[in-house]
Amino acid sequence: MTMTLTINGAEHRVDAEPDTPLLYVLRDDLGLNGAKYGCGLGQCGACTVHVDGRPVFSCLTPVAAVQGRRVTTVEGLGSPGNLGPLQQAFEQEQAAQCGYCIAGMIMRAQALLDRGGPISDADIRNHMQTNLCRCGTHMRILRAVRRAVDATGARTSSLEAKP
Ligand code: FES
Ligand code: FES
Repeated sequence: MTMTLTINGAEHRVDAEPDTPLLYVLRDDLGLNGAKYGCGLGQCGACTVHVDGRPVFSCLTPVAAVQGRRVTTVEGLGSPGNLGPLQQAFEQEQAAQCGYCIAGMIMRAQALLDRGGPISDADIRNHMQTNLCRCGTHMRILRAVRRAVDATGARTSSLEAKP
């Protein structure tokens, strides 16, 4: 089946079975390799992308379901010569060890930034719980997200965040 997908603001025509996971189409047909295959079960978040601004597990999303919707991948947030704020923060905090989880982490964190309003440290921890890092760099990842949130001026202090 031939479908037209809008990914990172550009239209792409792809030929795939309707139930093919979006992740496979992104990686195998379109060369967008940021999102990764981790578990294939919606349990790790390595495949996270946005559909109409909301984070989804692309390993569980049939490609036919995103026709007519806006898909954003980590490649849409910046480029090597022009990193987006979260990409910069992850680099500055050296948040990656193997790097496998990072694109998914950044897309998950972007959804928090896009939410708007004040963001506490607890908000950051709760929001990022969905995504796993098998290397155990969670503390650096949280610091990177905190840095990006700070850059927007949205973070409440740790004291204010306590009940
Ligand atoms: S690969 Fe999609 S959630 Fe793990
Ligand atoms: S940096 Fe290796 S899985 Fe997170």
